[in-house]
Amino acid sequence: MLSSRVKNIAPSATLAIDAKAKQLRKSGKDVVIFGAGEPDFNTPENIKLAAKKAIDGNFTRYTPVGGIPELRKAVAEKFQRENNVSYDVSEILISCGGKHSLYNIAMAVLGKGDEAILPVPYWVSYEEMIKLAEAVPVFCNTDERFRLTAGMVEEKISDKTKMLILNSPSNPSGAIVEPDEVRKIARLAADNNFYVVSDEVYEHFVYGDNKSISIASLGDDIKSLTIVSNSVSKTYAMTGWRIGYTAGNNEIIKAMENLQSHSTSNPSNIAQYAALEALTGPQESVKKMVRAFDERRKFIYKRLNEIDGISCVEPEGAFYAFPDISGTGMSSMDFASKLLSEALVAVVPGIAFGSDRHIRLSYAASMRDIERGLDRIEKWLKQS
Ligand SMILES: Cc1ncc(COP(=O)(O)O)c(C=O)c1O
Repeated sequence: MLSSRVKNIAPSATLAIDAKAKQLRKSGKDVVIFGAGEPDFNTPENIKLAAKKAIDGNFTRYTPVGGIPELRKAVAEKFQRENNVSYDVSEILISCGGKHSLYNIAMAVLGKGDEAILPVPYWVSYEEMIKLAEAVPVFCNTDERFRLTAGMVEEKISDKTKMLILNSPSNPSGAIVEPDEVRKIARLAADNNFYVVSDEVYEHFVYGDNKSISIASLGDDIKSLTIVSNSVSKTYAMTGWRIGYTAGNNEIIKAMENLQSHSTSNPSNIAQYAALEALTGPQESVKKMVRAFDERRKFIYKRLNEIDGISCVEPEGAFYAFPDISGTGMSSMDFASKLLSEALVAVVPGIAFGSDRHIRLSYAASMRDIERGLDRIEKWLKQS
């Protein structure tokens, strides 16, 4: 009796693995979890305090659908300050997490038969969102380091192309699109008149000499074709608060706001005040967290490459490693499910991200757990 729309949705593999691992942990098993797509840090105190104040101040009723004006303004100022892009407050929409922003974008822009170019490997939800909008995902390869080039995108453009999804730094690979390629992609979008959805949730998690730029900052032509999605979830360790935001042209933002008015209405009033503090308050916690991730990144990259059957390219951003496990002879699903049941280590099978040769490990875990988890993987592979 279900609609064909929902019957065809694949459940999120990342959430499924995470749930299974947590269940094992709850039953007393000592599981090392590399599955989570969220920082292991707590939300900073100043942000929590802002939420407590919002409750005490009775900011507990509905807000305008698109968010409180102060937060929309703070987001516009963030774009100016951090990304060098000017947006009017009317070009900003606050939603219930980056995932909700992206879902709204898909529903507002894509229609039956439209094509959305999706670089592989991709974050699990993009494919399903595109399909839910009755559009067609057109998969686009990246190179052996998971880097996307304009040439690769160009090959996939057709007269049905409506959008390209850019996620740099990427979940699951951590790869960053090089600034020169971003410029070329901007030209392609302008010449061929398609939207670029730029998912910038990992923009602060950039390591070493790597540079990440927002495609919207490259001039008015591309800005009017870019829809930026971002959130406070990863940057401020606020995954549970559910605040995301979109920047785009007036027409799209208005359409998304209308859509939101009939689904979730406004995001949580209290969480909006917390997000306001996150964006306007001290930023030290972000730097501290990024430094910690960088240390773990170096360790996990080195350690993975020491294990027989596994090879890993150096992640440039985000907080994931995406090693090639094809040397073990196992599919990614086999690898992940056996590893969890036999060695109590949770990773996400790459098939969920469009590559069966890889697994994803989130290094948003303590150094102790990372060490223990990798030791277990090595031992398990030696025995199997
Ligand atoms: C690439 C990417 N985009 C968006 C999101 C959504 O994050 P949230 O809805 O918590 O803001 C995630 C979360 O895992 C992600 O990895």
